[in-house]
Amino acid sequence: AIQRTLSILKPDATRRNLTGKINAVIEGTGLKIVAQKRLQLTQAQAEAFYAVHKERPFFGELVSFMISGPVVVQVLEGEDAVQKNRDIMGATNPKDAAPHTVRAQFAESIEANSVHGSDSAENAVNEIKFFFAEIEINA
Ligand code: CMP
Repeated sequence: AIQRTLSILKPDATRRNLTGKINAVIEGTGLKIVAQKRLQLTQAQAEAFYAVHKERPFFGELVSFMISGPVVVQVLEGEDAVQKNRDIMGATNPKDAAPHTVRAQFAESIEANSVHGSDSAENAVNEIKFFFAEIEINA
């Protein structure tokens, strides 16, 4: 089915000027970038976005990293968008990511792993709402 998913190009990607290269990988799969904006997250926003991880030992570092520079948040739309985006992102740890995935090609570490993508259609709806109004999403 046609789905939407939330994608984030993380601060390590904006810092190294990789947003165009990553967008080319995304668009190469046929997914369409139907909304996109560059933001500097506040600590409160990063904590709220990653609230599901707040008991994890890496939560503090994750939040600090996510506010260390601008991010690009985007909505991707297309057939099976959630899984398709996760396939091209590759495993969380770039050492485990399959060749040609975004993380294998570009990520610096398990934390500075260049991209985030929603892990289910249900989470995608909530993550998209966190950043975008419907009027900003245009296929
Ligand atoms: P993401 O898909 O954005 O979801 C949660 C993030 O936490 C994940 O990508 C990683 O960037 C980060 N993360 C997951 N595991 C670890 C870890 N063991 N150490 C540091 N960061 C982690």
